[in-house]
Amino acid sequence: MTAGLARLTDELGLLYGGDYNPEQWDPAVWREDVALMREAGVNLVTVGVFSWSHLEPRPGEYRFGWLDEVLGLLHDAGIAVDLATPVASPPPWLGHRHPESLPTTADGTVLSYGSRNQFCPSSDAYRAAAATIAEQLAARYAGHPAVRMWHAGNEYGQVCFCDRCAERFRDWLRARYGTLDALNAAWATTVWSQEYGDWAEILPPRVAPYHRNPSQELDFRRFGSDLLLDLFRAQKAIIRRHDAERPVTTNLMGFFGGVDPHDWRADLDVIADDAYPDPASPDGPADAALVNHLARGLAGGSSWLRMEQAASAVSWREHNLTKSPARLRSEVLQALAHGCDGALFFQWRQARSGPERFHSAMLPLAGPDTVAHQGIRALGGELRTLRRLAGAPVHRRVALLWDWTSWWAATQVALPTARLDPLATLRSWHRELWCLGVVVDVVPVDRADVALDAYDLVLAPAQYVLDDAAAARLEAYVAGGGHLVWGPFGGVADAEGHLRTGRSPACLRHVLGVSAEEWVPLPDGGSEVAWSAGSGLAGGGPVRAATLGERTRSDGAEVLATYADGPLAGCVAVARHVFGEGRAWYVGADLGGPDGGLAAVLRAALDAAGVPHGAQEPGVETVWRGHALVAVNHTDAATTVDVSGALAAGPDGVRAASALTDLLDGTRHDLAGPTAPAALPLPARGVVVLEAQAPTSPST
Ligand code: GLA
Repeated sequence: MTAGLARLTDELGLLYGGDYNPEQWDPAVWREDVALMREAGVNLVTVGVFSWSHLEPRPGEYRFGWLDEVLGLLHDAGIAVDLATPVASPPPWLGHRHPESLPTTADGTVLSYGSRNQFCPSSDAYRAAAATIAEQLAARYAGHPAVRMWHAGNEYGQVCFCDRCAERFRDWLRARYGTLDALNAAWATTVWSQEYGDWAEILPPRVAPYHRNPSQELDFRRFGSDLLLDLFRAQKAIIRRHDAERPVTTNLMGFFGGVDPHDWRADLDVIADDAYPDPASPDGPADAALVNHLARGLAGGSSWLRMEQAASAVSWREHNLTKSPARLRSEVLQALAHGCDGALFFQWRQARSGPERFHSAMLPLAGPDTVAHQGIRALGGELRTLRRLAGAPVHRRVALLWDWTSWWAATQVALPTARLDPLATLRSWHRELWCLGVVVDVVPVDRADVALDAYDLVLAPAQYVLDDAAAARLEAYVAGGGHLVWGPFGGVADAEGHLRTGRSPACLRHVLGVSAEEWVPLPDGGSEVAWSAGSGLAGGGPVRAATLGERTRSDGAEVLATYADGPLAGCVAVARHVFGEGRAWYVGADLGGPDGGLAAVLRAALDAAGVPHGAQEPGVETVWRGHALVAVNHTDAATTVDVSGALAAGPDGVRAASALTDLLDGTRHDLAGPTAPAALPLPARGVVVLEAQAPTSPST
């Protein structure tokens, strides 16, 4: 994963560019594009994502001349190419000749061509055609000097419920369970008379008269992700037959429910992610950080790549706000701070036709003499200056647990409340951490290769599913001296989605020292929670707990707060428990309201774990990447960076720095002596990248 990106950045520097769709333009425009790309500092473009019909207008009839010319032009200009296999959007001829290649929804509707993504991932005709076009491209361009990376498909996410998918689903289930008895047990088919006596009876979870089997739905999600991964692997295998070396990847989509990226990460030579933070959302910067933390978590803590983002407005929201160049710059440098080694966009030149004609691009229809494009050029120059940050590690000490099984299972129907939103819970916990200046990795606890010991504090805001192995990992982590904060409605189900028996969370209650006997939806407006005297948290006054609580008792934990009213009056709402060498904190409901309940608990847990927090002004994000402090002002008002707070939160090597040098403008800020600045100015939406200089030793 890491080596693929490092090879690219060693050669090209931080990657800068985007999707390039020359098939939408005359050849004269290509020449202008290449010249303008050079001026903007573009060094990598993704070509051909949606060119299948232009490359193969009729089955087996190829038209490569235009692509030869485009790759030649780019190469002559020193611009590298991430060459796509165009399999995300089959040409009309495929759907016309093979209607079975079109996707079917859960209610049996067959989706038409005339858009994109119109394929059934199980379709043999689609698979054969996708393999053929990939073979043609790989054979023709594997040795091309412009091609430095391969991009198979695009944003894999198709779901289909057709008969062919049903067959493949059965094959997948046979491989998973071996016998029908095992499947019947895993799906608990004795409920509602669903026992299967023949594999042929098993179907995808199609539209049915009432609620469907939750375990079947969970497996269909897993199957869907594996099915798409199988498509990606088939494309990669074809490319690998022709090109043994260059990285092959595809673009993930952050918190997208359609595939489980933790199953994909090992197959991707570069972790590539698309993100479109909503400029209208006041939580945009925090939520953007969370997506970046997920990408870094997928990359095992190493560098990753933002494959697509918008230079300004998108065209698929209801009301598509634009972004100023300053805001775009802050988003790009924020991602850089979080381990992203480049900034690629959808797309280079704005389209004048088609559904995305109003989507922004690096080069607007109005041309280079625009505020937006001048901002793009300036950013390209800055990324060249910041080249030395490529590959540098991001300093972080906290893990935020998140996995797709838990997410899928906790968003099914017929739960104690339909108001649960695990992703919203994750975001709200992360926002508190973000406001406290804490950088996290988003990692799954259900994978053995995640080393929890690397973190001083592990937070589990929405861990509805917890399998035995994951519970054992958490137990060992706390017993060994780790700090765990456990959120509401956690450890409720096993990996098949079956509820655990016994007081909850059955597999972790001895670690938490708290157990629950009932899940209790809280009244509208929530319930009051009162801090215990001596909890150290009492200063802020009572807080409100919302959505869903648990009827709890302490089994040895120190009770930090109890419900003061409502259906859970007298029950434990927040607790802390010493277990082995570590501490486990229990948070029994959504305390993320404006009264600061969740923040108070998280601050206390950070303090106990020795993780510094909270030094910066509101809206200022500081991240250490290597020995460089990146400070981003996400607000529209000028402010300052607290230098000593930032140094105190940094990695060992920077705490005693003698100076900070601004990598973008060269200014040196001496930190020794009476004139050392306590704070450095940060303009509205400004970003500074300050490299720490080690103190000079007396002998030198
Ligand atoms: C994603 C897709 C692109 C484009 C953009 C629009 O990134 O991969 O093809 O549709 O969204 O925002």
